[in-house]
Amino acid sequence: MNLSWPTILRSLAALWLLSGAAGFAQAQTLTGDVRAGQQRAEMCIGCHGVVGYQNSFPEIHKVPKISGQSAPYIVSSLRAYQTGQRRHPTMRGIASALSEQEMADLAAFYASHSDKKAAAVPRSASVEVAALLEKGACMVCHGANFSQPIEPNTPKIGGQHADYLFVALRAYTVEGNRVVGRASPVMSGIAKRYTLAELRAMAAYLASVEGELSTVPQPGFR
Ligand code: HEC
Ligand code: HEC
Repeated sequence: MNLSWPTILRSLAALWLLSGAAGFAQAQTLTGDVRAGQQRAEMCIGCHGVVGYQNSFPEIHKVPKISGQSAPYIVSSLRAYQTGQRRHPTMRGIASALSEQEMADLAAFYASHSDKKAAAVPRSASVEVAALLEKGACMVCHGANFSQPIEPNTPKIGGQHADYLFVALRAYTVEGNRVVGRASPVMSGIAKRYTLAELRAMAAYLASVEGELSTVPQPGFR
């Protein structure tokens, strides 16, 4: 039997789909209100509403694009900052101040905040990067153009900022640090199979994909 890493990952993806689908049913009990979310977003736009805004922790990188991201993933990532599963002092402080309803409202707002559509034809990757993506079966879970995740708690990553993608990927490899790192049953195992240079190369390619994410400028508020 051929138990290559991509084969194992494909089975993992199927399992993840099942467990994630259960989590989705749970997350769906709260319906988000776009208008309430828009008001609540005043505490977010200083960073997520400024095009190209940079954060300096743990190194200088652009704040992630969240407009057009899927609502269930926004909620699940905010929960991960709350619980410390994702270690990040700023986002932990911010997420900890939010109720489940407020997170649902913010997620509904940001999910509806961009109508960008992913390109119909996927952008081709270099031979080297294509091999890296194949090794990690990335497209199996993150979907066509890395913009159609197979289950709701998986993010769209096509067109996300390269420097943020790299910081996020590296964070999945970090353990035992109080302020940096992400624990994910899926991504931790995957990210650790690459060198930092390889993670950087995949991040650069993923950022070049025409996806659905954007930062929608909201200068009026600040
Ligand atoms: C001071 C700047 C700042 C503010 C204010 C802020 N964020 Fe963030 N946010 C960040 C940074 C930096 C990250 C990346 C953290 C990391 O590396 O995991 C992030 C990550 C996120 C993520 C995860 C994105 C992903 O792709 O995984 C979500 C969702 C998010 N923020 C939503 C919000 C919401 C909603 C608010 C307002 C309630 C908010 N943020 C306020 C800086 C900020
Ligand atoms: C089995 C499914 C699966 C596979 C395969 C997979 N991912 Fe993921 N990915 C996920 C899930 C689920 C998350 C959300 C984890 C979390 O909550 O932090 C994620 C998160 C990410 C993030 C963080 C995005 C953000 O906005 O913070 C990046 C970057 C990423 N994956 C890139 C990759 C790359 C590159 C590969 C291939 C080398 C890959 N993924 C393979 C399921 C998968």
